[in-house]
Amino acid sequence: MPAANVPIIAIDGYSSCGKSTLAKALANALDLIYIDSGAMYRAVTLYVLRQGISPTDQISVEKILPRIKIDFSHDHGGNRTLLNGVDVELAIRSMEVSKSVSPIATIPMVRRMLVEQQRNMATHQGVAMDGRDIGTIVFPNAPLKLFLTADIEVRVTRRVQQLAAQGKHVQRKAIRKNLLTRDYIDATRSDSPLRKATDAVLMDNTNLTPHEQKELALTLFRTRLTV
Ligand code: DC
Repeated sequence: MPAANVPIIAIDGYSSCGKSTLAKALANALDLIYIDSGAMYRAVTLYVLRQGISPTDQISVEKILPRIKIDFSHDHGGNRTLLNGVDVELAIRSMEVSKSVSPIATIPMVRRMLVEQQRNMATHQGVAMDGRDIGTIVFPNAPLKLFLTADIEVRVTRRVQQLAAQGKHVQRKAIRKNLLTRDYIDATRSDSPLRKATDAVLMDNTNLTPHEQKELALTLFRTRLTV
C-alpha cells in the first residue's frame, strides 16, 4: 500500500467518459504520474488474443499470465503501454481488443495481478489513476475520488473522434453497442464491479469542457488536502 502522504487521485466511471483526459490533466497540473489502468487490462487482452486463446477460456488465460509483463513509458507527457518491452499503445485501442477486454477483466487472477502492480506504482510517487475499481479496491484511502458519467451519445461521439484520430472509422452503432456492453459487464461482474465509492464525487461531464472538469477537480483536490 502507498504511504499515507503519497497524493493519489482515483478516477472511475463508465467507458469513454473522459476519465483519461481528466486524469492526464490533473497529473500534469499536480506533477503526478498518470496511470491508465484500463491499458493494463487491454494489454493482457491483446496478449491473450495473439496467443489464439479465447477471452472466456479462464483456465488458459490464467496459465499464460506469468508470461506477461506490462510497463509504461512516461516520456514527453504521454503514456505508452509496453507489453513485454514492446510498445502496444495503438494495438490495445483496436475494436478487437475493446470487444474482448471486459470478459478478461472479470477473471479474478487477472485482477489480482494488475491491482498489485497498480498499488506498487504508487509506493513512492503520487499518481492520478483512472479505471473502474480505483476508488473502491485499488486505493480505497485515496484523498480524492471522482466518478465520471456522461450522456451515452456524447460518449459515442468522443470515441468516434478518438478512433478517427487514429485513422479508424467505426460506425456509431457498433461503438454504442460496445460501450453499453462493456458498461454492463463491468458493472455486473462479481469481482470488483464498477461502482461509485461512497466517498467519491459524482461528476456528470456531459456539458463540461475538459478545462472546466480539470478546474473543478483541482478545487476539490485542494479542499480535500486542507481539511
Ligand atoms: O478504461 P478502458 O476503457 O480502456 O478499460 C478497458 C476495460 O478494462 C474496461 O471495459 C474494463 C476493464 N477495466 C477494469 O476492469 N478495471 C480497471 N481498473 C480498468 C479497466
